[in-house]
Amino acid sequence: MLPGWNLFPSLLVVLLQCLRCDAFNGTLVDKVETMAPPRTPPTPATPWKRPPIVYDRDLVIELVEAAEYPIEKHVLTTPDGYILKLHRIPDPLQFEDTTTPTASDQDSELLRFGPKNRFRGAVLLVPGLFSTAADFVVTGPENGLAFVLADAGYDVWMANVRGSRFARKNVRLNVAQSEFWDFSFHEIGTIDIAAIVDYILRETNQPKVFYVGHNQGMSDLLALLASKPRYNRKIHHAIGLAPVAFLGTTENRVIRRAAELTDRLYATLRSMNVNEIKPSPDFVRLLSGTVCSGETNELCAEMLRGFLGSTVDRSRNLLPIIVDDLLSSISTRQLIHFGQLMQTRKFQQFDHKNHMINMQRYGQGKPPEYNLSRVRLPVSLFYGTRDFVTSIKDAYKLKDELKNVKHFIEVPGMNHIDFVYSDKLYGLVNRKIIEIFNEN
Ligand SMILES: *[C@@H]1O[C@H](CO)[C@@H](O)[C@H](O)[C@H]1NC(C)=O
Ligand SMILES: *[C@@H]1O[C@H](CO)[C@@H](O)[C@H](O)[C@H]1NC(C)=O
Repeated sequence: MLPGWNLFPSLLVVLLQCLRCDAFNGTLVDKVETMAPPRTPPTPATPWKRPPIVYDRDLVIELVEAAEYPIEKHVLTTPDGYILKLHRIPDPLQFEDTTTPTASDQDSELLRFGPKNRFRGAVLLVPGLFSTAADFVVTGPENGLAFVLADAGYDVWMANVRGSRFARKNVRLNVAQSEFWDFSFHEIGTIDIAAIVDYILRETNQPKVFYVGHNQGMSDLLALLASKPRYNRKIHHAIGLAPVAFLGTTENRVIRRAAELTDRLYATLRSMNVNEIKPSPDFVRLLSGTVCSGETNELCAEMLRGFLGSTVDRSRNLLPIIVDDLLSSISTRQLIHFGQLMQTRKFQQFDHKNHMINMQRYGQGKPPEYNLSRVRLPVSLFYGTRDFVTSIKDAYKLKDELKNVKHFIEVPGMNHIDFVYSDKLYGLVNRKIIEIFNEN
């Protein structure tokens, strides 16, 4: 085993691994069977003809096609050369086939929201740490946010950010080079999300998009708006699910301990030249062996109960898929940056822990805080009462710092990843998202 692995119990890695190790336990079940949608999927309002876009298949495309929704893949290159894949469930009305009659009333009844056949705009969904667009479709057409929004008349775009499974290319760099991994949510927000928003506006000819970000997906947006406030004008309304900005008030002992280890972990990983953190099944097993054993065992058990709640049971079938297919790499810096947010309890840029580099990058020795008074677009926040990563206090702090919070919604019993994998998403969260967007 590599030296220094015992230092890996940092922050989210520990959380993600530990919370899954119990249910995962190294047995992979048949993926295809477990992700089959439970009921007949809703029928799109109008017949859809696939546009002539050439694409290679991937998990997101498979899941969307299995649910009989239209799917497109788009590829764009950021100004600094990262090649990002976007997944889109286009608004069916844009592809109306004039040779066939319009949808019958019976078909329209299958849509969950009225008024019928109304295009409501483009929406961008941004996944959280370790995740990809698959998050928004893996729970199937009943609960998956992408499907629910498509039914409601939205043109749905799903982001995949640099480093993740669908964005591991750069025109200049390859993943084996440390420079490839020289980013955190700051670059993801200010470069990737900016490029994605501009791309969608160009493609759809819309003046603005709607935005939903889960966990880091909201950190990305806040970093973007604080750095490039002109993007306020490009977004109608942003919804943060378990949004991450202020951290560090959690009562969870394991997370607090992990945060304390951040600096040591960073030094160790740097000295070992580990730039990418990849939650592979083997890695999960290894961690569950090293972290959830011996004296930390009780802590792990406590965390499992507190952090994951009942998701393990409800999503047991999904867990192998989550670990094997859905989890995606992040950069070491991304992880360390969140550890720093926990330590400092400030929403600020990455601390290079080197006065000279900080001076070069920021013109000051300490990393600057994000100026949230520059976030002027309407924002709504959802937070779970059982979220042990972003505590209720953290959620309130963010609400207080933002100037234009329209809805601040507590979801009882919800933990951090329930916002993606819960089988009650539709009733607890997704329905409300559509109601909020429809207010615009
Ligand atoms: C996990 O696997 C080990 C070894 O294969 C086994 O002894 C143990 O009972 C399993 N635990 C669960 C919860 O299935
Ligand atoms: C934050 O941004 C606002 C608006 O641009 C500006 O007036 C204010 O001075 C900034 N605050 C800091 C601490 O930079």
